Amino acid sequence: MRPVKASTTDPWRIGVAGLGTVGVGLLELLARRPDFAPGGARAVVAGVCARSRSRPRAAEIAHLPWFDDPVALAASSDNDLFVELIGGSDGPAKAAVEAALRAGKPVVTANKALIAEHGLELALLAESHAAPLLFEAAVMGGTPAVKMLREAMVGDEVAAVAGILNGTCNYILTEMETSGRDFAEVLAEAKRLGYAEADPTMDIGGFDAAHKITILAALAFGCAPAYRAAEVEGLENIELLDIRLAKDLGYRIKLIAWALRSGAGMSVRVHPALVPLDHPLARAGGVLNALFIEGRAVGRIFIQGPGAGAGPTAAAVAADIADVMTGAVRPVFQTAAASLPAFQSIDAAHAVGRGYLRLLVRDQAGVIAAVSEVLAESGVSIDSFLQKPVEGLAGVPIVLTTHAVALSVLSEAVRRVAALPALLEPPRLIRIAPI
Ligand SMILES: NC(=O)c1ccc[n+]([C@@H]2O[C@H](COP(=O)([O-])OP(=O)(O)OC[C@H]3O[C@@H](n4cnc5c(N)ncnc54)[C@H](OP(=O)(O)O)[C@@H]3O)[C@@H](O)[C@H]2O)c1
Repeated sequence: MRPVKASTTDPWRIGVAGLGTVGVGLLELLARRPDFAPGGARAVVAGVCARSRSRPRAAEIAHLPWFDDPVALAASSDNDLFVELIGGSDGPAKAAVEAALRAGKPVVTANKALIAEHGLELALLAESHAAPLLFEAAVMGGTPAVKMLREAMVGDEVAAVAGILNGTCNYILTEMETSGRDFAEVLAEAKRLGYAEADPTMDIGGFDAAHKITILAALAFGCAPAYRAAEVEGLENIELLDIRLAKDLGYRIKLIAWALRSGAGMSVRVHPALVPLDHPLARAGGVLNALFIEGRAVGRIFIQGPGAGAGPTAAAVAADIADVMTGAVRPVFQTAAASLPAFQSIDAAHAVGRGYLRLLVRDQAGVIAAVSEVLAESGVSIDSFLQKPVEGLAGVPIVLTTHAVALSVLSEAVRRVAALPALLEPPRLIRIAPI
């Protein structure tokens, strides 16, 4: 590992690749507080790189050495620590991080896609070159989730991590509920306000949250990150009607990312879920991120805060830079990468949960009895039932919640209900959060 600098007159020279939202935030932080790290050492920017040299930036860069190629900046002996703020799981971000690690240089990145999809190979590279690889900003921006699991929780056994890890999705769900507008309208507004990308697939499809929970699972369970093992369902099919009906039943719909461990194995998944209205995760509104960690000894911990933005994210990047500068560096994923246990996927047959089922049926006698009969025959027991005429709908929505049941049994029951002639559209199944 790189020796810690002994003298405060010998600053750490930082190479910053990517001068977008986070990169500019970091330049501003380093210009304002070059001595932010404990111990008094200074950090100075020794080189920058972005796609366009002429693009106007909110930070002053004219005096800084410019690199057209992030790999050249990463490999340059003119900087001691490389910060990757380009983004993307592959391409220039990955090439540059690999080049820095091969040069034995510490790397700090905010790139969740890179760490979730290539974390093990990068950890092997980092550890074989004794180069730290840190990524606090990759999950929950400025809210310290990574250090919480990597450091503060190692004395405990983490059984579960569950959270709202995508601010865009949380904003959309909150706005749908408070303004009564539908998904498409609120998404268009989120794009206008800069809360959603022009192509929002990574956020809305749940993939961004899946990257983040993959990283948290690896840290929580001391295993290799396994993005391909994640089960991912996004927000695309959430309707205003479900948000309203769920609320009538005492729930709020949230996009929840889960990492669970039991004797049967581990699971990582992202999907919309009904959360009881009085639960802290249900109360985290707007662009906020929130996270539950359940440790066997400590019980439940809840953290909430900004998951994005120049200032908060740059502060998280700076915290990692400080770790390198002070020598406070650990294995990338708890155990040396060469002997890191694999992620042990739970057999899907073991997955159990409660469901919210919304049906739009013809307004005729005997429909409820027919639905109840199919569910009972399938082995699904009903917990609560709500029938609520809604103006403007062709049929009557009926909503029921189930008791806990194997999810495979629930899916089969829903398939059978879907075949009932009284149904006017396919049933809508949303899981109820087991919290
Ligand atoms: N934004 C947030 O709040 C936030 C929060 C947490 C984590 N993150 C993560 O932080 C990273 C950066 O995010 P961001 O929002 O700052 O992104 P961004 O605003 O899109 O900025 C990306 C930067 O990378 C540069 N870039 C792109 N391709 C390049 C290439 N081939 N060579 C050199 N530079 C290249 C761009 O150059 P040009 O400016 O010249 O186009 C731009 O400066 C991502 O991994 C993201 O997931 C972001």
